[in-house]
This record gives sequence, C-alpha cells and structure tokens, in this order.
Amino acid sequence: MMTSSLQSWPEPIVRVQALSESGIPRIPERFVRPPSERPSPIPNFAPQDPDRTRDGINIPIIDLAGIMSSADGSTLLLERISYACREWGFFQVVNHGVSEELMGAAREAWREFFRLPVEAKQEYANNPSTYEGYGSRIGVEREATLDWSDYFFLYYSPRSARNPSKWPAIPLSCRELISEYGKEVTELCGRLLSLISRSLGFEGDYFERAFGGEEFGACLRANFYPKCPQPDLTLGLSAHSDPGFLTFLLPDPHVAGLQVRQGDQWVTVEPIPNAFIVNLGDQMQVVTNAIYRSVEHRVIVNSAKERVSLAFFYNPKSDLLIQPAEELVTEDRPALYSPMTYEEYRTYIRTKGPRGKSQLQSLMRLPTKKLTP
Ligand code: OGA
Ligand code: NI
Repeated sequence: MMTSSLQSWPEPIVRVQALSESGIPRIPERFVRPPSERPSPIPNFAPQDPDRTRDGINIPIIDLAGIMSSADGSTLLLERISYACREWGFFQVVNHGVSEELMGAAREAWREFFRLPVEAKQEYANNPSTYEGYGSRIGVEREATLDWSDYFFLYYSPRSARNPSKWPAIPLSCRELISEYGKEVTELCGRLLSLISRSLGFEGDYFERAFGGEEFGACLRANFYPKCPQPDLTLGLSAHSDPGFLTFLLPDPHVAGLQVRQGDQWVTVEPIPNAFIVNLGDQMQVVTNAIYRSVEHRVIVNSAKERVSLAFFYNPKSDLLIQPAEELVTEDRPALYSPMTYEEYRTYIRTKGPRGKSQLQSLMRLPTKKLTP
C-alpha cells in the first residue's frame, strides 16, 4: 500500500559524504547512470570568469532595480519576465532586495553543518513520510539509481508546519539564519509572483490567491554535493522539474553544477554573484495552461570541489485544486490539465523520485474531441 511504503526507505541509506571521504577510487554501481543520462565532459570545469559563459548562452537576467520603489514595474520588465517564463522557465534575478550579507551567512551556516561528521548529522536522519531532516535519496523505488548528494529538508511555511526544533542546532546561528533568510526570500517570492501575474495580464495578486495566499507552503532543501571520483558516470541530482510554483536557488558562488535543458542541450548556469536563480515549477505550468513552463534541470558533480546550494521551494496550499486559469483556456487552447490538489501531486512524485517531466506529462488530458472529421 502506498501509505506504508512511504514510512521508511526501501534500502539502507548510504551517506554520499561518507563514500566520498572514504577515498574510494570508483563509485558504487548504484550511482552509475546509463550512458544516455551521463553528463557530457565539460571543458575548463573550474570557477569561472564571470564575464564568460561556458556554452556561449546563459539563462536570462531579470533586474529588479527600480521596481523595488515603484509598485507597478515597467512594461519592459514585464516583457522580459514573460520571455524568460515562456522560453526558459529559468532566470537569474539581480537587485532583488534580499540582503547579500544574509544570503552569504545562510549559505555558510549550511556549509558548516554539512562539514560536521556524518554521525553528528545522523540524529536528523529523515524518512520518506515527511522528508524532514537529513537525507540521501528522493523516492522509495527499490534499486533506483542514486544521486551523488546528501541534503537537509525542512518546512518553513505555513506556520503550522514549521518546527524549528527539527532544524540543525549546530552551527548555533543556523535556526535564526533560516528564519530570517526565509522571511526575506518569501517577500521576494511575493513580489515576483505579482510581476508574473501581471506579465500575463492578470491583477498582481492573481496567482498568489490561486496558490492559497497566506497559507501557501514553503520549504527549504540545502543540497550538499561531495567530491566525486568519477563525475562523468553520475549526477548530483538527476533530471527533474520542481513540483511547486516557484523555486529560489542560492547557488555555490565557487562551483558551477546546475544545468538547464534548452531543447536537446544542457546549458550550464554561470551564477552571477549575489543573484538568485529562479525557476518555475510544474504548478505554474498547470495554472498558465502551459503558456509558461517548468523546465527540466539537473546537477553535475566534479572531483575537485564539493558544492552547497540552498533551494527554497514555494508550493500551493496542499488541499487546493490547481487547474488552468479560466482566462487562459480558449477554444483554440483547451485546458491541458485536469484539476488536482498539490497534495496528490506531491505524493505521486515522492513515490517515484525525480523523473524528468514525466509526472506532468502523465497528467495531460486526452483530447476530448476527435480532430478527424
Ligand atoms: C533542486 C535543484 C539545483 C542545485 O534542489 O531541486 O534543482 O543547483 N537544485 O542544487
Ligand atoms: Ni530542482
């Protein structure tokens, strides 16, 4: 039964950090991906010159300077947002108003946490019923290929789901930093969501209301990608799209790793200092009836440097029915998805683990009318 299978992991958990630190020259078979899913070799894999992009293309940049003071934002900005959401599903946001000092402090606190000995982190070991705590896999499928990463997952919103006693007690500043960082990122999320609503001609609060307003969910996953002796055989995080509506990623400024799908290419994101990498999740694709897209992404690892990233996920209130906005459904463009609560959607994903965009595709409606005469 699904509920019982979600209470515990199907196999003993192996901490990737422990594997990495053991100095093994080869990765265990469980981490080896089939050839079609392996990353292609990356030239010059090292901290990058910020003015150069490795692939010659990079995800769009959205500059929020100026709109922070005026409530409405310029048409040009809305057009850029629309372009980024239609064509990429990903962008970097600069001049976003979140304190750079706070961003750095939050990231370094998590780096410190992951540097603790594995035994010290074991007391936060998670299980698949809530995922809260220290984990090393997503999905409960037996014999699934595993990703080269460990993580810490926690709930920030709604208030009723927040339980700081389950957050790391070491480093000492960690809980307070999570609270402050969460508050600022959540404010930014509200501002961006309003711009995204307006970029489609809606009132500023349209999507916020569609996703449950004050009661929407927010959770943080701190990702830790240890050094890997055979980085070309595995992935730090396999290809997936995020299930919620928006994700704010604070990447490691020293080590690249995130790749975004653009057609049949994987584009390596070059992080801009102090920017957030924002991406649209599956629920945004559903409510916009696929005018805006959630895009597949993955993480590659390397043998020289470990990498830390913080992903703040924003999700609809769990019992709301999410469906394409009426205004975006026309005769020419019928609703592509049937209504579903976020809770149902998430259970589905947590059972299967990351799988590209197959989850959303499986929710596609079958055409109701035959197109043949
Ligand atoms: C995620 C994610 C990317 C990264 O946590 O969902 O896509 O660079 N992370 O860690
Ligand atoms: Ni992701």
